[in-house]
This record gives sequence, structure tokens and C-alpha cells, in this order.
Amino acid sequence: MDRRPIGVFDSGVGGLTVVNEIQRQLPKERVVYFGDTARFPYGSKSVETVTEFARQDSQFLLGFDVKLIVVACNTATACALDYLGEHLTVPVVGVIEPGAVAAVRASRKKFVGVIGTQGTIASGAYQRALTRIDPSISVFAQACPLFVSLAEEGWTDRAASLLIAHEYLDPLREAMIDVLVLGCTHYPLLIPVIRRVMGPEAILTDSAAEVTREVGRVLRENELESDGNAVSGHRFFVSDAPLKFREVGERFLGRALPTVELATAG
Ligand code: DGL
Repeated sequence: MDRRPIGVFDSGVGGLTVVNEIQRQLPKERVVYFGDTARFPYGSKSVETVTEFARQDSQFLLGFDVKLIVVACNTATACALDYLGEHLTVPVVGVIEPGAVAAVRASRKKFVGVIGTQGTIASGAYQRALTRIDPSISVFAQACPLFVSLAEEGWTDRAASLLIAHEYLDPLREAMIDVLVLGCTHYPLLIPVIRRVMGPEAILTDSAAEVTREVGRVLRENELESDGNAVSGHRFFVSDAPLKFREVGERFLGRALPTVELATAG
């Protein structure tokens, strides 16, 4: 039994969806969250830069003696998961493999669409994960860089958002995919417009629930599960603008967040 916290990081607020799931599925676990708001967004940056950010984010969390790190950012997972897995002394779980598992399980037609940031799509990480799990899957990938800003603004159901969604998603709908992987932490907020473009039949998957099941499995396998009561022990850090994080984060989760602290070292 191990009462040390789990570390979770993202480029900003998006990883809170994973924290939500951890609180639901693993209520005895304590979380230390780091949102790298000063350097957000990661999605348009180079692999080298994102890898260095991810290394520093992990170092920050290790300062809290975390027992496992969740890379709750698709771009950071795509660019840096292998590096972190090789260099960190605690287990590291990313969001892409669990997200791909969920998509393959959901698809009957084996035509799967993936949307994400430029970094995530350019890395080919989802495409590789999906076809490794099931080589008969056809993958249609599309970067949707403007979606992150729309989600941050709370433009979840505006006419302008719908127009942009058509630009990005019409080719995927025309390709007759049956599952669309929301391969970016922010995209679940845009489900209203994504749903309107893709139609009622399309299955939209994201990785929060699946990645948390993976975290539970890794904790069990390594005998790292907590027997404590985590309800009040969570801490939230950002590298800039804690109040804005709290505001966007509360919109994101649809509920109140505790105090958000400014990280003094990153
Ligand atoms: N967290 C990022 C991701 O999941 C989206 C925001 C960003 O570009 O930093 O890819």
C-alpha cells in the first residue's frame, strides 16, 4: 500500500477530465496536478520543445514524491512518452494507447477517424497505436488546431464553431468512419458541434475513462495502491494565471475547483 500521490500533467486545463475520472474510479488516490499554462499550447510546438516541457513538468511533479505520472496531454504523450518512460524512475501512463484501445473496441466498420493537435497528428502516434491493436483498421487522421481556442473561449455551440467543424470534419464524415477519437484534451467540450457535423450515429471516444483504468491496473501490478482517503488531499498547480485556470477549469468540469496554486518551480 502506498499513500503517495499520483502526478498528472497537461499543457493546461484539459487534463482535468482525467483527474475527474481518477476521483470517480480511484477515490482513495490523491492527485497533484500541474497545468503548464505559461507555455500553453503544446499542440503547435516541435517534438524537441514539447519533450523538454514534458521532462520539466514531470520533474515538478516528482518534487511531490508522486508514485506514478499520468501524461494527460495528447501532444505530450505523442512527443515525449517514450522519453519519459525511459528516463523516469516511476511508472508513466499516457493517453494515446488507452484511447486507441477504446476506439478499436467501439468500431464495427473498422473505419476510425482521429482528430488532434498538429503535433499529435503529425507524430502518427494514434495511427500507429490503432493499427498495432488491429491491423485491419483504416485510420483517417485530421489536425484541428482551431478547436483548442474555441474550447478555451467556451464557444461550444456557436455558428462560427460549426463552420470550422465542417471544414475539419466533413472529409471524415464522407469517409464513412463509425468512430471518431477525440485525440485532444479540449475536444470533449466541443461535442455539441462535432456531433452536429458527424451525425447521431457516430461514436465519439476520448481517453479519460480508459487511461484511468490503465492507471488502476499499473498501480495494482506494482502494489502502489493507496488505502487512504483522498477526498481532501488533491492539489492543483499552474505555471501562470491560476484564476483564469480556475475559471476555464470550472467551465470544463462543470463544477467548482479547489484553490489553484502558482508553481514556483517548473
Ligand atoms: N493538451 C493538448 C492536447 O491534448 C491540447 C492543448 C495544447 O495544444 O496544448 O493535445
